[in-house]
Amino acid sequence: MSGWSRKDLTGLDGLSAAEILFLLDSAKAFKGVGERSLKKVPALRGKTLVNFFVEPSTRTRTSFEVAAMRLSADVVNISATASSLQKGETLKDTALNLQALRADMIVLRHSSPGSSHFLARRLDASIINAGDGAHEHPTQGLLDIFTIREKLGRIEGVEVAIVGDILFSRVARSNIFGLRKLGAKVTLVGPPTLVPKSLEQLGVRVTHSIDEVLASADVLNLLRIQHERQRQEFFPGLGEYVSLFGLTKSRAARLKPTCLVMHPGPVNRGVEIDSEVADGPQSVILEQVTNGIAVRMAVLYACAGGSSIPA
Ligand code: CP
Repeated sequence: MSGWSRKDLTGLDGLSAAEILFLLDSAKAFKGVGERSLKKVPALRGKTLVNFFVEPSTRTRTSFEVAAMRLSADVVNISATASSLQKGETLKDTALNLQALRADMIVLRHSSPGSSHFLARRLDASIINAGDGAHEHPTQGLLDIFTIREKLGRIEGVEVAIVGDILFSRVARSNIFGLRKLGAKVTLVGPPTLVPKSLEQLGVRVTHSIDEVLASADVLNLLRIQHERQRQEFFPGLGEYVSLFGLTKSRAARLKPTCLVMHPGPVNRGVEIDSEVADGPQSVILEQVTNGIAVRMAVLYACAGGSSIPA
């Protein structure tokens, strides 16, 4: 029986645990493709994928492109500055034109929450959310969960602390939805302005002390302070943020030796995480990036109609 029957991936909130596990198990199978000398399978041969990024990206855009190429799809990249959005064309009209150009799949990053869902309801092409404002970043959530499961062997009961700029974080939201569905215990850590108690309605614990979670966490996922969203006004200064919430070397020394240190990138070295800790033995930051390719191969394959876990 198929574990997936959707044409789109707009978020993890609406998925069942079985659907998330289908994607994780498919990603595990696809990870092997990247370890061969010939890193390519014909699963999406003849399909056209458009990477449509209206906000900047290094990891996600490149990862989707590599994933699509490994599945033998044809890939076109469009940025906001090189598109007719600059001339006043609407997102819907742009997307309909991409579909008229026979795009089978559109990977969208956009600053408006709900933009992927908006297109998914209006287009026959598959829409994959690569980050919609402060709403969701589902493939980042999946690759984080995939990395935890690969490293620790399970998700059920794992204690995950997500630290930092959470209130408007799409990465945090997708992690929370996915981790909670698979039975992890999630704690959010940060100043009350960025981590209000009201977030507990998502089924998580909230604390304003990073020191409280260091000894018990199985995973510490540090989030970037989003300078572009003018977060400085949410705390007195970067120095104070580092002293209260940064993963400094002295705090890292109090982690369990098995605790994973994660970060979705881009990293502000010396702010949310000390530079040596980011490069240290407990850091899996670059493994997250590698795993992103396998996860995105799984998502593209499933949304294109792949109905069983690849052999
Ligand atoms: N993690 C992440 O979304 O990184 P990019 O903004 O570089 O895609």
